Amino acid sequence: MYLWDQKIIDRLMTSYQKLVVYHFSGTGNSENVAKWMADIANEKGMEVSLINIIKTERRGIEPPEPETLVAFVSPIHGFNYPPVMLNFLIHFPKGQNNVLLLNTRAGMLIGKWITPGLTGIAFYFSALILKLKGYSIKSMFPVDLPSNWISVHPGLNNRTVKYLHDRNQEKVYRFARKVFSGGSDFRGLYEIIQDTLVAPISLGYYFIGRFLFAKTYYASADCNNCDLCIKGCPVKAIKKVDNRPFWTFKCESCMRCMSNCPKQAIETGHGYILAFSLLFSLLLSGIFYTYFAELSSDIEHTFTGFILNSALFLGILAVWYRIIHFAMRFRFVERMIVYTSLTKYKFWGRRYKALKKAGK
Ligand SMILES: Cc1cc2nc3c(=O)[nH]c(=O)nc-3n(C[C@H](O)[C@H](O)[C@H](O)COP(=O)(O)O)c2cc1C
Repeated sequence: MYLWDQKIIDRLMTSYQKLVVYHFSGTGNSENVAKWMADIANEKGMEVSLINIIKTERRGIEPPEPETLVAFVSPIHGFNYPPVMLNFLIHFPKGQNNVLLLNTRAGMLIGKWITPGLTGIAFYFSALILKLKGYSIKSMFPVDLPSNWISVHPGLNNRTVKYLHDRNQEKVYRFARKVFSGGSDFRGLYEIIQDTLVAPISLGYYFIGRFLFAKTYYASADCNNCDLCIKGCPVKAIKKVDNRPFWTFKCESCMRCMSNCPKQAIETGHGYILAFSLLFSLLLSGIFYTYFAELSSDIEHTFTGFILNSALFLGILAVWYRIIHFAMRFRFVERMIVYTSLTKYKFWGRRYKALKKAGK
């Protein structure tokens, strides 16, 4: 009897009949958040659609029906939404619905304190895109789930992963109950100062950094050519070259390939990227700057110079990556690269995959 009453009350307190959640996820955090939102929507008797943006035909998206609450959930990559989500938003049809913006970011744990990740420009930029299309933003809500970026930090242990998972599930449930009853939640805005400070880095990551990271991945000799990485890549960035996986500049470093590889053969090549960076600066200072002394001060001190330098860096990196890819057929080179990859080692290389646990 009580449960029945509670259901009626829930329905009466719900301001929307329908929820559509568009999500992108590399290692499962954002997908979990989308599912947690759906748990509460179901509890409130709302009609729910969860849409993985990778599986939709971007240009064929119907505008959302009036009165439908629309949510977008995506990880943060380099202090912004990843390009795949930004492109989706740019091509999203016009409408006048209420919209919830959520992101999942790099949460870590110090004692019982969950250290927050950094959203950067993701909320501001996507809110601007959607506002210009006529939507009304009702929330900006960050969720600090376990960081999956083991290219830059050691993998998290199971206790931390479980703790962050459970705490955030409750947090998302509370958020969903509030916003489905007509409330709003802009706690993402509390971080406007640090988000503004990292804005230049987010641009640097978007235009340069992500291409550099795309060329840090390789498959070691442990690869058995199962092609799971190629089939599972959400942006179709991995192809076969010389009968081994090869990462193109399309890679968004979502970490899905690394996290899913059954042989744990995919690594981040810290050693060879470091070697490349050193060689590149030697090349520039040793040859270029010696022969073109006047040009060198321009390159070092102007914005155009910076762009030229970066383009040169990425261009030569692409060639270097191809050479390394070829040379890895020789055992000695392969072992050198593997042993200078931090992800190879136990203390660092724990792969991350979001916990899959039954919802409510
Ligand atoms: C390439 C890359 C860049 C990242 N950049 C950020 C960042 O700028 N700020 C942040 O808080 N977390 C960052 N992270 C961490 C992820 O956003 C976080 O782990 C997220 O929950 C992963 O979600 P997913 O499992 O849905 O892919 C980054 C992760 C990757 C792989």
